[in-house]
Amino acid sequence: MKPNSKILIIAGSDSSGGAGVQADIKTVTALGSYAMTAITAVTSQNTTGVKSIVAVPSREISKQIEFTSKDIKPHAIKIGMLHSAEVINAVLKSLNKISVKKIILDPVMIAKGGTKLIDNRSIKILKSKLIKKVSLITPNIPETEILTKKKIFSVDDMISAAKILIDFGAKNVLIKGGHLKSRIMYDIFISKNEMSVFKNKKIYTKNTHGTGCTLSSAIATYYSCGKTLKKSCEMAIKYVNHSIGTEPNYGKGHGPINHLSTININKKFR
Ligand SMILES: Nc1ncnc2c1ncn2[C@@H]1O[C@H](COP(=O)(O)OP(=O)(O)OP(=O)(O)O)[C@@H](O)[C@H]1O
Ligand SMILES: [Mg+2]
Repeated sequence: MKPNSKILIIAGSDSSGGAGVQADIKTVTALGSYAMTAITAVTSQNTTGVKSIVAVPSREISKQIEFTSKDIKPHAIKIGMLHSAEVINAVLKSLNKISVKKIILDPVMIAKGGTKLIDNRSIKILKSKLIKKVSLITPNIPETEILTKKKIFSVDDMISAAKILIDFGAKNVLIKGGHLKSRIMYDIFISKNEMSVFKNKKIYTKNTHGTGCTLSSAIATYYSCGKTLKKSCEMAIKYVNHSIGTEPNYGKGHGPINHLSTININKKFR
């Protein structure tokens, strides 16, 4: 097959391959599209934790976005971790220059272990400027709590929080429910005039590294191919669920999911 669309990923690298840019490229590829990248940080990590993070200077991030897009124009953009206010401002400026309309923002703020990854100034700019610029924001529960300053214990709390984000100026919101203490996983999609609650049975496994990165890249891919945002969320959730269900169980800690869950290799190449 030939790629169905072109996606630009703006995110940090994960040397262990389960999350970050590596997960994003695998997701976009496994769903039939062409992936390009602007790397915001380089991490040394494995399934047991993060050893170090080296930030890429913001002017280099801008160059990657602008120089790449000038030549191969993306149909959609996925944004992952932006670690400082300076980087967020640089990305905003570059986004204005390249004028791509379909943008999915995964507002990564907290590492799996609970460490806050970005400072308060970055959170302020993300809230006041970046969320208004993007088509969809996909916070998990702890990130939603930081953005709305409200605690979340239930699906009703998730819905109220999503409405607050819409009041802040977000066009569409998907609150991911992976962190809710529940046997059912609830993901809430809200726009100004519609709401959907996606439900799935929780899969009991320690191997869920990169579910959030994978989900937002999958949404960007489906959306770039012309599906509605709601449909893109529904299909992306299905892909993540199937990929968790077939995880390869690599590493001693929180291992990766199976990004290849959609792929059948042609007989000629086996
Ligand atoms: N154990 C699980 N079983 C089934 N679905 C899950 C499980 N954990 C997460 N999900 C699904 O994975 C998607 C990502 O949600 P999650 O809340 O884990 O994002 P996240 O916290 O941003 O992930 P990450 O740890 O990669 O940052 C959601 O659709 C959620 O419902
Ligand atoms: Mg996440």
